[in-house]
Amino acid sequence: MFGARGRGQNMVVLAVVKFGGSFISEKSRKFSVRKRAVQAAFQALSNTRFVLVHGGGSFGHPVASEYGLSGMNTSTSRKGVWETRSAMQRLNDIICQAMAKSGLKPYVVPGVAILDTELRVRPGIKDTLDIISNSGLTPVSYGDVLPVVGGFRIVSGDYLSLTLCSLMQPRRMVFVLDKPGILKDPQDDESLVRRVEPDELESFGHGGSHDVTGGFKYKLKIAKEIAGLGVETAFVSGFNGDALIKSVLGGPFKGTLVVSKK
Ligand SMILES: Nc1ncnc2c1ncn2[C@@H]1O[C@H](COP(=O)(O)OP(=O)(O)O)[C@@H](O)[C@H]1O
Ligand SMILES: [Mg+2]
Repeated sequence: MFGARGRGQNMVVLAVVKFGGSFISEKSRKFSVRKRAVQAAFQALSNTRFVLVHGGGSFGHPVASEYGLSGMNTSTSRKGVWETRSAMQRLNDIICQAMAKSGLKPYVVPGVAILDTELRVRPGIKDTLDIISNSGLTPVSYGDVLPVVGGFRIVSGDYLSLTLCSLMQPRRMVFVLDKPGILKDPQDDESLVRRVEPDELESFGHGGSHDVTGGFKYKLKIAKEIAGLGVETAFVSGFNGDALIKSVLGGPFKGTLVVSKK
């Protein structure tokens, strides 16, 4: 629907959608992918125009931490850089094949094409993304190890999502999780928060996974910055195709909406 209408025209990207590692993989099982669930989620999105970002899940995070790579410091471990990127490229290929099976046409734009050695946006990348997206292909990026001044640093999928929101000005940012949204009690799926002001975000996100890019608390910080761009953010479960597509299209959905005052 939107893919066909978008062809050749400058259309607004509906959403930047980030498939979190918590959804695409079982974080406790190294190199595991929830292939069926991921496939079903792409099926739900197969007629929409969006930009995809994915996280590292049980591919990027365990390998990066083995070599001491993180989002907090720079590293010069050549083996660490190679092994971490190699794992991420394998995961990225699995994700792209799942997209293609649903009729989507992914075009991978690695983080190094988006951000320079001081993590500034590279000039011209917006035009690149527009051509890809306006052609009906789906731009795809993912958490990656980037060359920065002094070495290499992990740049998370969450951070790239913020960057892509500032570039594309989508109607929505959608964080896809293994949970139904932001929960008052992370152990209780019934404690879903339906609507939250950006200033209230800091009160959530205790516990959860502590991975090399900061986990859930970091994601909430990013959501606050995205609200500052004038973009609403949704948190939904990847296992709920109905909530996922509704959150992308902009209507009411089962999940958490972070309102933007802008
Ligand atoms: N208040 C909360 N609401 C929902 N999830 C939470 C909350 N606090 C911690 N979490 C944990 O955060 C995880 C998702 O965050 P994170 O691991 O960073 O995700 P991703 O892999 O998608 O980047 C969930 O699986 C959940 O265990
Ligand atoms: Mg994360």
